[in-house]
Amino acid sequence: MQTRLVVPIEDGKDHASTFRANHHRPMPMRLIQIFLMFVVVGLSFSLICLYATKFFSVRTIVPVAPTIIHACFEDVNNLQNWIKPPSDLMHKMNDTELFWRATFVPRVKEYPFKRVPKIAFMFLTKGPLPLAPLWEKFFKGHKGLYSIYVHPHPAYFGNYSSSSVFYGRQIPSKPAEWGEMSMCEAERRLLANALLDISNEWFVLLSESCIPLHNFSIIYYYISRSRYSFMGSYDDPGPFGRGRYDPNMAPEVALSQWRKGSQWFEVNRVLAVKIVEDVVYYPKFRDFCKPGCYVDEHYFPTMLTIHMPHLLANRTLTWTDWSRGGAHPATFGPADIKEEFFRKIIASEQCLYNNQLTTFCYLFARKFAPSALDPLLGLSPRVFGF
Ligand SMILES: *[C@@H]1O[C@H](CO)[C@@H](O)[C@H](O)[C@H]1NC(C)=O
Ligand SMILES: *[C@@H]1O[C@H](CO)[C@@H](O)[C@H](O)[C@H]1NC(C)=O
Ligand SMILES: *[C@@H]1O[C@H](CO)[C@@H](O)[C@H](O)[C@H]1NC(C)=O
Ligand SMILES: *[C@@H]1O[C@H](CO)[C@@H](O)[C@H](O)[C@H]1NC(C)=O
Repeated sequence: MQTRLVVPIEDGKDHASTFRANHHRPMPMRLIQIFLMFVVVGLSFSLICLYATKFFSVRTIVPVAPTIIHACFEDVNNLQNWIKPPSDLMHKMNDTELFWRATFVPRVKEYPFKRVPKIAFMFLTKGPLPLAPLWEKFFKGHKGLYSIYVHPHPAYFGNYSSSSVFYGRQIPSKPAEWGEMSMCEAERRLLANALLDISNEWFVLLSESCIPLHNFSIIYYYISRSRYSFMGSYDDPGPFGRGRYDPNMAPEVALSQWRKGSQWFEVNRVLAVKIVEDVVYYPKFRDFCKPGCYVDEHYFPTMLTIHMPHLLANRTLTWTDWSRGGAHPATFGPADIKEEFFRKIIASEQCLYNNQLTTFCYLFARKFAPSALDPLLGLSPRVFGF
C-alpha cells in the first residue's frame, strides 16, 4: 500500500534524471498515458475542424470552403491575409479600435504584389440613395478600380439587391449632425473603414444628392494623374472665415493658419491617414468650433494646410450652387436637368490642374433632388459620357 502511493511522486521527481542519464530505463506508464491523452485530444480537434468545415461549406457559398480548410490547418500569417480587403464591412470594432487599426502604414514603399490603386467612393447619407441607379450605370464595367462605402443614419439599413454595387457596402455608423463635430467624426469613420482596404489610394466624399459629371474612365484618370489632393482650402478674411476663429485654438492653430473649404473633398492615402490619426487638432475644433462655426468647413482644410500644404490643390471637385444665398445651396429638380445647364457647369470656371490653367474643374455636382433621377438617366449618355 505504502509503496504504491510513493511511486507517482517518485516518477514526478525523477523526470529530469530519466531523460538525462537513464536511457535504458523503460518509459514510465504515466508518461505513456499523458502521450496517449495528447494524441486523443489532437485527433478530436482535427475531427472537429473537419466537421466544422463540412458544416459551413453546406451553409455558405461553395467557393468559401477552401479558405476555411486553410484557416484550420495553415499558417494564417501569409501575404494574402494582409492584402485582401475585409470580407464583411460590418465589423465589431469601435471607433478607437478602428482608427488604431486603420492607421497601420507599411514603411517599405514598394508593394510586394501587383497593386491596382482604387478610388474609394464614400457616401455620407441620411438614409436612402435615391440617385443610386445613376451611380450603378456610372460604375458598370469598372470593377476592381473602385470601392464603395455608405455611412447612413444607424437606424437605416439599405436593402440593396445582391446585384447592386451598394450591396453589403454599409459601414457601422453613428448619427451625424450638419455643421457639428459628429459630421467630421462620420467622415473620419468613412476614411478609416476605407483605409482597411490597402488598395484604396484615393478617397472621395459624396452625399446622396451628388452626381458624377463624367464617366468613370475620365474621373479615374483625372484623380489618379493629379499631383495634388482636392481639398478646398482658402483664407477668407470675412465674418464667415476668420470671423469663426477662436483664439483658444492657439497655439495649435494661429489665425493666419485658419482655413475654410467645402466639406466635399478628395484626399490621397497619406492625407487620409493624417486625418484619421489626428489627436492634436481634434480636441481644439471639438471644443472651440461650435455652431456658428461650421466645423466641417474648417477642421480638415486647416489641419492639412498646416501639415501638408504642398499636397493640396486647395479646391474642391464638387460643384455647388451658392448663388441663391442663404445657409444651404440650391437643389435642382427635373425642370433644371437640361443639356445646356450641364455644359455651363462643366466649363464654367478656370482653375489649375497640375499647375496648368484649365476649364476642366469639376468631376461631381450637387444638390440634385430624387425627382431629377429620370431626366438625369436620359441625359447621361450624351452629356456625361456613360
Ligand atoms: C472602445 O473599446 C475600448 C476597449 O473596451 C475602450 O477603451 C474605448 O474607450 C472604446 N472606444 C469608444 C469610442 O467607445
Ligand atoms: C429586402 O428586399 C427583398 C426584395 O428585394 C425583400 O424580399 C426583403 O423582405 C427585404 N428585406 C427587408 C428587411 O426589408
Ligand atoms: C495650396 O495652398 C498652400 C498654402 O495655403 C500652398 O502652400 C500650396 O502650394 C497650394 N497648392 C497649390 C497647388 O497651389
Ligand atoms: C468616357 O468619356 C469620354 C469623353 O466623353 C469618351 O471619349 C470615352 O469613350 C468614354 N469612355 C467610356 C468607357 O465610355
